[in-house]
Amino acid sequence: MKSYTIAVIAGDGTGPEVVAEGLKVLAAVSELNGFKYVLTHLNYGGKRYLETGNVLTGDELAGLNKFDAIYLGAVGDPNVAPGIIERGLLLKIRFGLDQYVNLRPVKLYPGVDTPLKNKKPEDIDFVVVRENTEGFYVGEGEFIKKDTPEETAIQISRNTRKGVERCIRFAFEYARNKRQRKQLTLCAKTNVLNYASNLWERTFNEVAKKYPDVKTNYAHVDAACMWMVKNPEWFDVIVTDNMFGDIITDLGAMIQGGMGIAAGGNINPEGVSMFEPIGGSAPKYTGQGVINPLAAVCAVQMLLAELGEDAAANQIEKAVMFVTANKLKSLAAGQMGYSTSQVGDLVVEALKIKN
Ligand code: IPM
Ligand code: MN
Repeated sequence: MKSYTIAVIAGDGTGPEVVAEGLKVLAAVSELNGFKYVLTHLNYGGKRYLETGNVLTGDELAGLNKFDAIYLGAVGDPNVAPGIIERGLLLKIRFGLDQYVNLRPVKLYPGVDTPLKNKKPEDIDFVVVRENTEGFYVGEGEFIKKDTPEETAIQISRNTRKGVERCIRFAFEYARNKRQRKQLTLCAKTNVLNYASNLWERTFNEVAKKYPDVKTNYAHVDAACMWMVKNPEWFDVIVTDNMFGDIITDLGAMIQGGMGIAAGGNINPEGVSMFEPIGGSAPKYTGQGVINPLAAVCAVQMLLAELGEDAAANQIEKAVMFVTANKLKSLAAGQMGYSTSQVGDLVVEALKIKN
């Protein structure tokens, strides 16, 4: 029987509540599919930082390498200055484990309200492949004449041929192997970013030659935002840089029904990947049992797909779709008609219906 090792970083705020539901679903689906796993709970996050002063040490980062996957709830404590946990934990893991793709599906499930008028599940079903280790996120730059009226701030977006190419190649493979329409859109800003977007465009066109079966097109990032709202059905797979990907995937989360359902994977295809609900720690809802755990459940689905447990992953998605279509009143915190743990139970029940 297959067995996997999974590091669990439940984190701060509502992270532990939603992770508990994700793990409940994992337990049920593993029994149905006959695989085993060993969980290692790690207490990293804002709370531990306030207690110990440690965000994530080099040894702790290296220690993550020995797992088959990482399951992250949410990190961020209102008592910690912004940026410390984000850079010291989340980005440190993404960069340190070379998780060079941030994979973010944008899919409207049945029964879910989208703010887009007249759009249905068949209209909103695409995936963003966001570069995850470069761009503005490298944190390079400088202040010149800081705190003077002549101050200049320089922020560098670093894009390497290697980094851009491996991300674009991943997107082509994804479009070819995982999508029916096999259409890939490059999202950049070639009319302004004469270095960064230029490299992306040249690399994209070159890699495209090896994928004649994948239909390609291009959208400037501002236009892509417009089309995501007006004609989301035009998109199948979108590949873009770290910053643009960050921005358009928040828009994507909103059109698929909100942060209660949006999940993502930080993927190193040759290494250890990390899966997370993308909504954050939602401190104001902590401990109330009102937060929606479906995004965390969908993160487990993505984790299992990455481990090659496709049948289990598909079962989770079907069960989530059953719950959104037939059970929940809304995806919003406090308005689901059920508590956080009841929603987890509903998914587990739905898994069993399907079997
Ligand atoms: C995300 C988040 C992070 C990012 C923050 C918390 C650093 O917004 O996962 O999209 O910008 O990547
Ligand atoms: Mn973001």
